Amino acid sequence: MELTRTADLWWKTAVVYCLDVETFSDSNGDGHGDFRGLAQRIDYLDRLGVTCLWLMPFYPSPDRDDGYDITDFYGVDPRLGTLGDFVEFLRTARDRGIRVIADLVVNHTSDRHPWFQSARSSRESPYRDWYVWQDEPPPGADKGIVFPDKEKSIWTYDERAGQYYLHRFYKHQPDLNVANPAVRDEIARVMGFWLELGLSGFRVDGVPFLLETQGSPDAELLPDPHDYLADLRAFLSRRCGDAVLLGEVNLPYPDTMRFFGNAEGVGDELTMCFDFVGMQRMYLALARSDAGPLAAALRERPQPPRDGHWGTFVRNHDELTLDKLTESERKEVFDAFGPAPEMQLYGRGLRRRVPTMFGGDPRRIRLVYSLLYSLPGTPVLFYGEEIGMAEDLRAEGRLAVRTPMQWAPIRNGGFSTADPRQLPGPIPNGHYGPKQVNVSAQERDPDSLLSWIRRLIERYRECPELAWGRYTVLDTGVPSVLAHRCDIDGTVIALHNLADSDAEPRLSLDPGSVLTDLLHDEHTTVPDNGTVSLRLGPYGCRWLRLSQPAG
Ligand code: NOJ
Repeated sequence: MELTRTADLWWKTAVVYCLDVETFSDSNGDGHGDFRGLAQRIDYLDRLGVTCLWLMPFYPSPDRDDGYDITDFYGVDPRLGTLGDFVEFLRTARDRGIRVIADLVVNHTSDRHPWFQSARSSRESPYRDWYVWQDEPPPGADKGIVFPDKEKSIWTYDERAGQYYLHRFYKHQPDLNVANPAVRDEIARVMGFWLELGLSGFRVDGVPFLLETQGSPDAELLPDPHDYLADLRAFLSRRCGDAVLLGEVNLPYPDTMRFFGNAEGVGDELTMCFDFVGMQRMYLALARSDAGPLAAALRERPQPPRDGHWGTFVRNHDELTLDKLTESERKEVFDAFGPAPEMQLYGRGLRRRVPTMFGGDPRRIRLVYSLLYSLPGTPVLFYGEEIGMAEDLRAEGRLAVRTPMQWAPIRNGGFSTADPRQLPGPIPNGHYGPKQVNVSAQERDPDSLLSWIRRLIERYRECPELAWGRYTVLDTGVPSVLAHRCDIDGTVIALHNLADSDAEPRLSLDPGSVLTDLLHDEHTTVPDNGTVSLRLGPYGCRWLRLSQPAG
């Protein structure tokens, strides 16, 4: 397929890398990563093949939810630098051809945000209606709690306000009232501000919660919240034609589809939605060494509208949620990949990273990333995955997977020269500590995980068919093997063996056509009967380009 097609809809073949500035690289030795430190690492990200950075929240924050509790939507947290540093970083990234998107966290603010401080102070405050108040908590206040370890209700009484306020997340994160036109205007202004500084879009936090108008007075009289999301998208596109909204929507497929908007057309709401269901079924498939659950998810997964795309991931910054599995399926995954209670969180997820989940088995770790870069959808990597960083269970809750980046086998992993007690999290010790797992050693080692992931990214970029093609899950006669093909002016086929034994999957293809291995140096010609047998080692993977013989 012609590569020129990929330039406009850049997000379909993007290589997204998520990081928190605070834990990435500290330039001034104060213990916090910062924009100057990040700017110095741009060439590392460029060499990895990253084309789009997703920055976790970097705005001023009391940091009670790792920056997802914001006190000023228009600034940079002073620990991380200044707006000037932000612009210098962005310019450097752009020079290397790397776009930047950032978390847009506008479902709520911090309770220390001046808007909330004003709102709670009096019913007459101009900001009172920027939040959602009730005299009594409505029925069901104890349902839908996101962080059940800390909260018992989504409504909390505020003494100063004399009313209850809604908070879908922690009680220190009061929900904004998006039914209020002034709030809507302000959210657009926030987006416009960062677009003007050069962002290429946003990762939108908790989209279903943002759109929720329940609890607002006269909720049923309000216009469809999806019209609001379409308005935001239209605003984004007016300001910056090729900017994107990548949404956090963890719902079953049919419900998620609504957030793409206008499914019959080009899609007028979110540009991309994360594929939470596919991710969870992948782990179930891996736990069972049976491709079935993943194949079923891929077959079930609806096609996004024309310009839309799924975002795929195998690890993000939160608990690895398994909430869309049944209880017994979740137990299977827990048993396989995180059996101890301290590895689990909220009864629904894991606070482990990929390498420890697979007992450090390099074959399985490589297999997971081969799936990430070959399955249809825009792959999103969480910092440190490329070198096989592990979690540190000494850190609280979800912070276990957000420890500082491990650059070198030196003090603090080369992240910072500060006293270790000043760092935002512990540095893992032992087998997964920076002595064993770090960028500098892996950059020099052609057999390292980092080199493997670089190679996968290169191939993925060379095979836009994977992103653009119509995909079909193929029957191979081997239950442990997932095979899929992507067709669009060319065909790429990928095979993954989820079992610890050799496999010999069979594919039916045109006699005489040639399969060229993209990860190894091999060719296979399809025999006259049209059935080709391929070999896969235990946890092996192959990516193949299908072509017709010359002449
Ligand atoms: C979803 C984010 O991914 C999570 O990290 C955060 O705690 C909540 N939204 C609240 O903002």
